[in-house]
Parts: sequence; structure tokens; C-alpha cells
Amino acid sequence: MTDKKRGMYKNLTSYGDEGFSIFLRKAFIKGLGYTDEMLDRPIVGITNTYSDYNPCHGNVPDLIKSVKSGILSSGAIPLEFPTITVHESFAHPTSMYLRNLMSIDTEEMLRAQPMDACVLIGGCDKTVPAQLMGAFSTDIPVIQLVTGPMLTGSHRGERVGACTDCRRYWAKFRAEEIDEDEINEVNNQLVPTVGTCGVMGTASTMALITEALGIMLPNGACAPAVSAERKRIAEETGRVAVEIASKDLRPSKFLTIKNFQNALTVLSAIGGSTNGIVHLTAIAGRLGFDLNLNDFDEMTKNTPMIVDLKPSGSGYMEDLFKSGGLPRILVELKDYLHLDTLSVTGQTLKQLIDKTNFTWPQEIIRKKDNPIFEKGSIAVLNGNLAPGSAIIKQSAASKELLYHEGKVEVFENLEDLASRIDSDDLDVTKDSILLLRNIGPIGAPGMPEAGLIPIPKKLAKQGVKDMVRISDGRMSGTASGTIVLHVCPESAVGGPLNVVESGDFIKLDVNNRSLELMLSDKEIKLRMDNKKLNINSKRRGYNKLFHETVLQADKGVDFDFLRPVE
Ligand code: FES
Repeated sequence: MTDKKRGMYKNLTSYGDEGFSIFLRKAFIKGLGYTDEMLDRPIVGITNTYSDYNPCHGNVPDLIKSVKSGILSSGAIPLEFPTITVHESFAHPTSMYLRNLMSIDTEEMLRAQPMDACVLIGGCDKTVPAQLMGAFSTDIPVIQLVTGPMLTGSHRGERVGACTDCRRYWAKFRAEEIDEDEINEVNNQLVPTVGTCGVMGTASTMALITEALGIMLPNGACAPAVSAERKRIAEETGRVAVEIASKDLRPSKFLTIKNFQNALTVLSAIGGSTNGIVHLTAIAGRLGFDLNLNDFDEMTKNTPMIVDLKPSGSGYMEDLFKSGGLPRILVELKDYLHLDTLSVTGQTLKQLIDKTNFTWPQEIIRKKDNPIFEKGSIAVLNGNLAPGSAIIKQSAASKELLYHEGKVEVFENLEDLASRIDSDDLDVTKDSILLLRNIGPIGAPGMPEAGLIPIPKKLAKQGVKDMVRISDGRMSGTASGTIVLHVCPESAVGGPLNVVESGDFIKLDVNNRSLELMLSDKEIKLRMDNKKLNINSKRRGYNKLFHETVLQADKGVDFDFLRPVE
């Protein structure tokens, strides 16, 4: 007997006559050749985020075929549908500006179309967070599948991969250590296959913490994009999607704050991208959970970093896959995790860990008493320069700069940076602090990954590899250096960053979690009172919506109206 609460009967178009709505819907979809027998089955939607503008999703058509096999073999109909997709290098002004747009698109397509569950296929940095944010707002049963990491390439005998090595080679080129021929040669080797960046950048971080959250299959994060295992994971994802559809297993039924705390612990232990914190905060916010950054610091300050991947370590995602992937990491971390959390498979974390047995030798996932970085790979800073918080990935910083006092050189915005950073008369030494403002959520807009301010050419030529750099922007997870990011409130809304002047002194003290402008509170207040904000009221469309509703970094850079209604 037909179940009139599921499948084709869901989310009917409003004609004022439900019978007519289903009659018309079936008439149209039969144009694709479906029979009534098929149309009586549950429906599993599949997001198709393939685009010629997104090479990280180049294997999506293959994955969709495998997901469909899994869904069909379990007795449901797979229906794929497009949503927008966002790639890091093909999004102006920056991909983060479009993440919330993709989350709205995903949410509204999940709400509008008939489906009992949905397989979300993402991969490139912003796509997984956008999909989870949108899907969690709809609270329909979903399971995440990622496209998987790319393989590594080889340049003159050295193993290379996007995108830590992209930045490293570019820095060598800027310092005139390699010539134009060589920079062009390595350009062919950095992305040798489709798939996501192969280091512990944001895409890898999001894949691993999504698996830790419990909304992806166990061991679903690491298999390379072009492997047979990736297709098997896709097929199994399709089968599990049919199960969660039949159980109506909505995210709100099994995800608790403890799942998110586990994800944060994993983020710290893998030396994950600082962007992961922003995204996880936004994702949790859609289910009504507030992830407080100071709680994150408290919770993870003793968590050892145990995964040896670039940029903090030396390996690539394909090595992590061969070493046992996230399940093996979870075994090492079990003393730091909530073991009673449930995943989309219905299994607790304890059950997963108990049945996990690794015997083969490997060097990528360390024992917790032999970590890559002793504890707290990402630190949360506070102080008069960042009253709302700032963060630093100390595992990827220079140890000797983690306590540093220095004279500041201020760059007003990206244009100012581009025009002066390589000037011979820039007033900087290796001990200076570079400060870039107006690259926060509203400032740039979209909080671009420009926090990795380049080392001024004249210093780079002297061999300077790292300096303290501070901004209200973000940094790619593939980058490294002593970089203070996400300073809140940002300068464009009048945060203290807005009143720092070249020649001021700043003290960074990561051990004490402090970032201080070395001026009296009275002087800072006086400067803030006297500085007018530059507000542009002539905006339209998405740009207007973005500027009027975007939240600060410590709230995940989500739009205020997308959070749950109290
Ligand atoms: Fe897509 Fe790095 S650019 S994952």
C-alpha cells in the first residue's frame, strides 16, 4: 500500500488540491521513464555539486553512480539534483563570501523537493560546511560523502601536493631562490588528480571532523578521490541513506553537544585548519549549540597533536588513509573523547573503537605519548587587541615567536598591502609585527584567506622565513607561520584593530593566551572615539544581505537570520 507521507508525496507543490498535486508531479516525472512501482518507493536525494569550475569535485559524477547503486540495491529511488558549488580559487572575492549562499541553496532545495533522506556530496573547503549547515537547518535525515583527497605529485624527485607546497614554492620564487622556469614546472605537479587538497588543509580537516561528528561513514574521510575504495564508500553511503530514511533518523535525534566536542578534540589532535573552528561553530549553531572558543581552548589545551601531515608535519592524506584513517586516530584519542555519542550508522563511538583493530606498522598517526606537537595545536587568544578572541595555530608557528614583542607595521587593507609590501623603504626588520586590517567578515568582505601576509621581499631575500602577522582575516589550512587570525571584533565594525598605528608595539604571549596592544586603555578608547567608520549604504542583492546580517568569526560567520528561531 502506498505510504502517503513519504517519497513522491512529500513537499507537494501548492495547487490547493493535493490529489492534483501528486497527479501532476507523477505525470511529469514519468517523462523520465519511471513506473508507478518505482515511484511508490522512498526517495533519497543526492546533491550534485559537479562543476567545471570545481576540480576538487571532478569525481562527483562517478560517485553519484556508486551512491545510486547503493540506494537502488536497498529499494529506494535515487534522485540527484544540482546545487551551487564553491571552489577556493574560482570564487571572487573569496569562497567564504559564498559559503552561506550555498548553505541557503542546499537548505531550500532539501525543503522544497520530495525526499526521505539526502546524500550530501561535498569536498572542497566551503562545500561540506555549507551542506551541513543547510541540512541541519532542515533536520531531515542526511549523510555526508566527501570527494576525497587528491594524490601527490613529484617535482624533481620531491613529493609535492596542494597546497602547502604551492605556498612553499611561491615563497621560494619570491625570495628569488628558484626561477620562472622552475615555478612553471612545479605548477604542473601540485594538483596531479581530481580531489581535495592532500594536506591537512580545511578540506581534509572538515572531512575528518565530519566523520568524528558522526554524520559520515566510519573511515569515510581519507580514501583518495581516484581510488576504488572511494567508490565503495559511496555505494555504502547510498545503502545507509536508505536505512536512515526508513528510521527517519534526523540529525537532531542523535547529534548532541558531545558530538561537536568530539569533533573539536579531533580538530586539535589532527593539527586541523583554523577554518575548521569557524565552520564547526556555524554548523553547531544551526542545531542551536553554542561552541564557545574559550571552552574549546580549555577542552583541547592538553590534547596532543598526533597526526604527521603538512603543514604542521610531513605527510599527505594518502599516507593517513594507508595508516588507518580516522578510526585509528580515535583509538589513540579515546581518553579525550565522549564514547557514548551516536553516529548516523546507529553505532556508538565506543562500539566503533572496540571493534577497531590495527596491527600494521605506520608512522603517520603517533602514539599520544609521542606527539608531533605536545598539546593544544590551536590556541585561543584574548586581550585588549582581541576582546572578542583571536586564534593562532601554534603547531604551525615558529616556536621562538610564540612570545614576541615587536613594532607594528600597519596595512590598511589588501590594496595597501599589495602596493607596499615589497617596497624597499618599508620600515620593517625581522622583529617587526605585520598587521593587516579590513579583511574580516564585513571588511573585505567574506574574510578572505589573506592572513598569511607575505614576508616583505627585502626580508625574504635576507632569508627571513617567518614573522608575527596579525589580521581579522583567515588563513588557508595548508599554510604555516606565526599567524594570528580571526581577531574579533574586526576592524570594519570598530574593533581595536582599527586604531593600531604603525610604530605602536604589540605583545603576543601564546602561553598565556594573550594579545595586547601596548597602550593604556584610556589611549585606545580615545583613538576609538575619534575614528569614524567607513559605512557604505549603497548596496544591493546578496552583497547587501551579507553586510547586514553576517556574524563575527567567533559566531561562525553565519547570517544571523539563519540561526534557529528561539
Ligand atoms: Fe578545493 Fe583545496 S582548493 S580542497
